[in-house]
Amino acid sequence: MQAIAILGAGTMGHGIAQVFAVRGHPVRLYDPSAAALEAAPQRIRRGMEPFLQLGLHTPREAERCLENLALCSELEAACRGARVVIEAAPEDLGLKQGLLARAQAAAEPDALLCSNTSALSVSAMSRGLEKPDRLVGTHFWNPAPVIPCVEIVRGEKTSDRSVDEAWSLVAAAGKQPVRVRREVPGFLGNRLQHALQREALYLVEQGIASPEDVDRVVKFGFGLRYALMGPLERADLGGLDVTYAVQQTVLPGLDNRTTPSELLRRRVQAGELGVKSGRGFYKWTPEKKERLQGRRDLALLGILQLTRGLATELEPSDE
Ligand SMILES: NC(=O)c1ccc[n+]([C@@H]2O[C@H](COP(=O)([O-])OP(=O)(O)OC[C@H]3O[C@@H](n4cnc5c(N)ncnc54)[C@H](O)[C@@H]3O)[C@@H](O)[C@H]2O)c1
Repeated sequence: MQAIAILGAGTMGHGIAQVFAVRGHPVRLYDPSAAALEAAPQRIRRGMEPFLQLGLHTPREAERCLENLALCSELEAACRGARVVIEAAPEDLGLKQGLLARAQAAAEPDALLCSNTSALSVSAMSRGLEKPDRLVGTHFWNPAPVIPCVEIVRGEKTSDRSVDEAWSLVAAAGKQPVRVRREVPGFLGNRLQHALQREALYLVEQGIASPEDVDRVVKFGFGLRYALMGPLERADLGGLDVTYAVQQTVLPGLDNRTTPSELLRRRVQAGELGVKSGRGFYKWTPEKKERLQGRRDLALLGILQLTRGLATELEPSDE
C-alpha cells in the first residue's frame, strides 16, 4: 500500500484521509493549524459512524483506519517517503503552488501530486514545479468518504501516466473516477450543477415558482432518477428525437446570462448567506443544519447501497 501525504486537514482533507486510511494506506495528514490537526481524528471517527451503522465497515476496520493515520505539523515530515501527495489546502493559487513545489521536493522522487482544487487551473498550479507532468487534479466531492465520484483533471503538462495512476488509485479506494480530458472551469460536475442552479434562480427571480417548489421538483421529480441514470442515458431512454423536439421549444426560454444571478447578488449584499447567517432562501438554525447533515450521510449511503448493481452497463455508441 502506497504511503499517502495529505496537505490540509479541513473539510476535504480529513475526509480524503479517511478514504485511504480505511483501505489500508499509511496516511500522513499535514496542517499548519494545530487545532485542525487535533480535530481530525474525531472528525474521522464521526465520519465513520454511518458506515458502521449500515455495516459497511466493521469496528475493527474503523480502528485500523485511525491506526493508519499519522498527524504531522511539518509538511516535509508528512511528505517524506510518500509515493502520493494529495493537496487539500485553501483555494488560493499562490499558496497551492508553494505547497506543491515543497511537497515535490520532499516526497519520493517520482511521487504523484494530486490537487483537490474546486476551480483553479491545474496547468497554472503546475507552473514552477520541477516535474509538472506529475500533477493531476483529483476533485473529490464533499463528504469525500460518502460521495463516490472523483474528477481526474488533466492539466496542459499532465502526463498520461499521471492520469492513469490517479485513476487507478481512487478506483482501488472504491471511488468512481471520471476523466476530464481537457481543463475547463468547473470541470464536469460544477458546470452541470451551476447550469441547473442558474435556471433554478431564474425561475424564482421571475416569480414563476417559489424556492420550495423549485427544490421540490428536483428532489421529488427528475432528481430522483439521477442516482441511477445520467442525463444522457435519460435522453436515450426517452428517445433522442423527443429530446430534440423538446429542446427546440424549451431552450430559447432558458436563462443564458453569463453573470451571477441578480437575485443571488441582492441576497449576498443583504448578508443573507444561507446556513452561515441563519437566513438564505430559507430560515436556518444550527440545530436544523445539524439534523439535516446528520441524516444526509446515512441517507446517501443507503441510496448507494440500494442502487448498487441496478445501473445499466454503459456501452458508448461512438467507440
Ligand atoms: N468543501 C467542499 O465542499 C469542497 C469540495 C471539493 C473541493 N474543495 C476544495 O478542497 C480544498 C480544501 O477545501 P476545504 O473545504 O477542505 O477547506 P477548509 O478550510 O475546510 O480546510 C483547509 C485546511 O487547510 C489548512 N491550511 C491552511 N493553510 C495551509 C497550508 N499552507 N498548507 C496546508 N494546509 C493549510 C487549514 O488550516 C484548513 O484546515 C480547496 O481547494 C477547496 O476548493 C472543497
